[in-house]
Amino acid sequence: MTLKTEDLLKVIHSAGVQAAADTGNEPEPELTQPISWPITSTVGPGLEGAIACESKVGYVNGAKGWLVYRGYDIFELCANATYEEVCYLLLHGELPTEAQLYAFKKKLASYRYVNGTLRVLMGFPVEKMNPMAALRLGTNLLRQEFSFIDIDIPGDDMGFDEIIAMDDDSFAMETPPLGEKQATYEFHQQSRASHPRWGDQLHDAKGYEAAYHLIAGIPTLAAAISRVRQGHMPIEPDPHLSLSANFLYMLTGYQPSELEERMMDVCLILHADHGMNASTFAAMVVASTLSDVYFSVGSGIAALNGPLHGGANEQVLKMLEEIRSFGDVQEWLDERLMNKEKVMGFGHRVYKAYDPRARVLGPLAELLTENHEDGKSLLSIAKRLESEMIDRFGESKKIFPNVDFYSGIVYNCLGIPADMFTSVFAVARVSGWTARVLEYLKNNRIFRPRAIYTGDFGKTYTPIEQRQRRDTIQ
Ligand code: CMC
Repeated sequence: MTLKTEDLLKVIHSAGVQAAADTGNEPEPELTQPISWPITSTVGPGLEGAIACESKVGYVNGAKGWLVYRGYDIFELCANATYEEVCYLLLHGELPTEAQLYAFKKKLASYRYVNGTLRVLMGFPVEKMNPMAALRLGTNLLRQEFSFIDIDIPGDDMGFDEIIAMDDDSFAMETPPLGEKQATYEFHQQSRASHPRWGDQLHDAKGYEAAYHLIAGIPTLAAAISRVRQGHMPIEPDPHLSLSANFLYMLTGYQPSELEERMMDVCLILHADHGMNASTFAAMVVASTLSDVYFSVGSGIAALNGPLHGGANEQVLKMLEEIRSFGDVQEWLDERLMNKEKVMGFGHRVYKAYDPRARVLGPLAELLTENHEDGKSLLSIAKRLESEMIDRFGESKKIFPNVDFYSGIVYNCLGIPADMFTSVFAVARVSGWTARVLEYLKNNRIFRPRAIYTGDFGKTYTPIEQRQRRDTIQ
């Protein structure tokens, strides 16, 4: 069967109808109104229940399984919006007009070119690095490309371009140096644009331009990292393609169909924002120190990488493959649970109902695997596992599939390598991270929770030679 964009729309529509039928229609009044600080809330370990700030960016209702961006239900946005529109919405609070979207897309297309960053990044052993580690490194280098903050050291006249030029237009000496100042011959480029210094750049690096730069540049970095890991050269961005189509193009090397582009759009939209999740919180904590947006996003990437967060999507695919070779879903699950191991792609701190993102991604996986034999077999295992998990824990522990359970099967069918799944999540979440960071900075207060000290008091110092012998390092 040939799939069409209308099939995708039908999937989103029925997911929305099902979600509306399964969930109530009233928000939680006490969590959707401005509050007067300080407030009293019950806090559990891992800051469960803690209220850290007010936000208009997005709303997650875990009891009902709602996800709302700036007032728009996630199903509404998946069915109608492009990822660029959603980025604009998250950052600026309103859907863009035609002229605003045109200007925004143009800006993003120009920020896709991160050649300076790529050139420096490729000097590292990217093919041997964890892709998220490489992406985080790339984000740091991207900061240099935009802000020039660190190179503006008083008395040091060398700019970032000059540093690159040194690498670009130089070669090592063939004979040992004979006392010359430097060990390379250099060919400096003659004319260079002058870069704005300190004040403006400090402001810019914290502002919307930096957010646009990151939203557009990180897909290029992620795709280049993926290509190099597969032994290919990075692919230059195509300014005529949308962000989703261009990302798929740079990852896979072929121009995606309209349907594949829409699928990618839907995936990016679904992953764009999700309340005060661990990576968003990490990004906000960094921003709250008046560090900058690049550092914030770098921290978001680091936090997202963990298997309890965005790293789960890659683990899910590995797990499904493991079950396939093991043979029996029930037996595999018994063993896993007996070993007290979590089942990847299930459970959520906030959702105690079916995750609305999985409501779309599950049927999307079904649609895509119709023409994909490997995907079909993984999906049938996934469905058996889902039904087994819900039978065992749906009622008692409110455990359901989360966003990471089906996304890997979708990405797999779109030709994205499994080791890049978490990076795809990061590409999408940059919009949410930056929107929340920039919103928080308007009314910033440094984050500084406390720990309960459960250690001792009043000890006296024992000289090292009198300390009781211990052979292990604790
Ligand atoms: N498999 C088996 N049992 C689970 C699972 C799971 N995936 N998730 C929760 N439980 C059980 C857990 O054992 C505990 O049982 P008990 O009360 O008997 O000790 C109970 O449910 C509560 O679990 P928790 O670990 O205290 O819940 P949490 O809110 O601290 O953690 C979570 C949430 C997402 C980290 C957790 O559900 C988990 O580790 N899931 C697997 C990893 C995963 O899929 N992560 C992606 C999360 S969604 C996307 C994202 O944020 O990136």
